[in-house]
Amino acid sequence: MVVRRLAILHFGILAAAVRIEAPLGLDAYLPTPQSNPLTAERVTLGRRLFFEKRLSRDETISCATCHEPARGYTDVRPKSIGVSSRRGEFRSPRIINRVYGKSFFWDGRAKSLEEQVTQPIANPLEMDLPLPQAVSRLAATSDYPNITLDDMKLALASYVRTILAGASPYDHHVAGDKTALGEKAKLGLKIFRTKGACIRCHVGPNLTDEALHNTGVGMGSFKTPTLREVARQGPYMHDGSLSTLEDVIDYYDKGGNKVMGLDAEMQELHLTAEEKSGLVEFLKALTGVIREGL
Ligand code: HEC
Ligand code: HEC
Repeated sequence: MVVRRLAILHFGILAAAVRIEAPLGLDAYLPTPQSNPLTAERVTLGRRLFFEKRLSRDETISCATCHEPARGYTDVRPKSIGVSSRRGEFRSPRIINRVYGKSFFWDGRAKSLEEQVTQPIANPLEMDLPLPQAVSRLAATSDYPNITLDDMKLALASYVRTILAGASPYDHHVAGDKTALGEKAKLGLKIFRTKGACIRCHVGPNLTDEALHNTGVGMGSFKTPTLREVARQGPYMHDGSLSTLEDVIDYYDKGGNKVMGLDAEMQELHLTAEEKSGLVEFLKALTGVIREGL
C-alpha cells in the first residue's frame, strides 16, 4: 500500500492528507487532522478496539455489534440496543466514508471523529463504561499494556477513517462503463437528479451535503446520510421509522410529513410507479465494495 502524505487546506485549516488506493468514485486523498496522522500502527490498534467487547460494562458488546461490517457498518435495529438491552434514541448509522465527513452523529453535534469515537463507550445506553474505567481495564491486560485514553481516541478515529465504500455500479457508470447500470437504474438516476430533486441534498461523491435538514422524519433537523451501501440493511432514517427503500421513496413522493420547519425542498413529487421503482433500483446500484485498513 502506497501511502503519501502532504499538507492541504481542508475547511480552511492546514491539515494532513494521505493518499491511498481508494475504491472507484472516492477522493484518493483522505483528509486527516495534523494532530492525528494516519499510521498503520494506529489503524491496527483501532481495529482491535473496534471489535473489543471489554470496552462495554458487561463485556457483551463492541462497536462492531451496532456497526456490523457485513451490513455496511450498521445493524438491523430501528433503534440501537446497548448493554442490558437498553434502547437508544437513534438508529445506528452506516459508518462508511466518514473520513470525508464534516460533523458526526445524526444531529452533527461532534465536530471530529476524535471527539466522537469514545462517546459510545461512556454512553449509558450504549457501552456504559466510564472512560477512566475503560482505560484502566484495558491497561491491566497484557493485550494493551500502558494504553491511554488518547491512544484509544486516536486509534479508533484512525480506523474509522479507513472504512471506505465505493466501486459500485453507479461509480462504474460515472467512469464511463455504459453497461454498469440497467435501464431501470438509469431512469432512477435521471429522476434522482431531476424530478426527484434528491441531488439537492444527496450530492457529490459521497451523496451527501453533510448538512442538517428537516425532512419531516421525527422532529427537527438531521444530517443527510451517505446513500452508499444503503440497500444492504434497513430500516431507514435516524429513528428507523421506514422499513424498506420502497417506503422511503413513497415518503419523499408525498413530500414528507407536513411538520413545522419542513425544508422547502420537500415537495410532492408525483412520481409514476415506474419512476419509483427506478429510484429503488438506482439506490441498489450504490452497493459496491467496502474496504478497511491501510
Ligand atoms: C449500542 C450501539 C452502538 C455501539 C456499541 C456503538 N455505536 Fe456508533 N453509533 C450508534 C448510534 C445509534 C449512532 C448515532 C447516534 C446519534 O446520532 O446520536 C452512532 C454513531 C456513530 C458515529 C457517527 C457517524 C456519523 O456519520 O455521524 C460513529 C463514527 C460511530 N458511531 C462509531 C462508533 C465507534 C468507534 C464505536 C465503539 C467505540 C461505536 N460507534 C459504538 C450506535 C452504536
Ligand atoms: C432536503 C434534503 C433532502 C432531499 C431533497 C432528499 N433527502 Fe434523502 N435524506 C435527507 C436527510 C436529512 C435524511 C436523514 C433524515 C432522518 O434520518 O431523519 C435522508 C435520508 C434518506 C434515506 C435513508 C438513508 C438511511 O441511511 O437511513 C434515503 C434512502 C434517502 N434519503 C433517499 C433520498 C431520495 C431517493 C431522495 C429523492 C427522492 C431524497 N433522499 C431527497 C435529506 C434529503
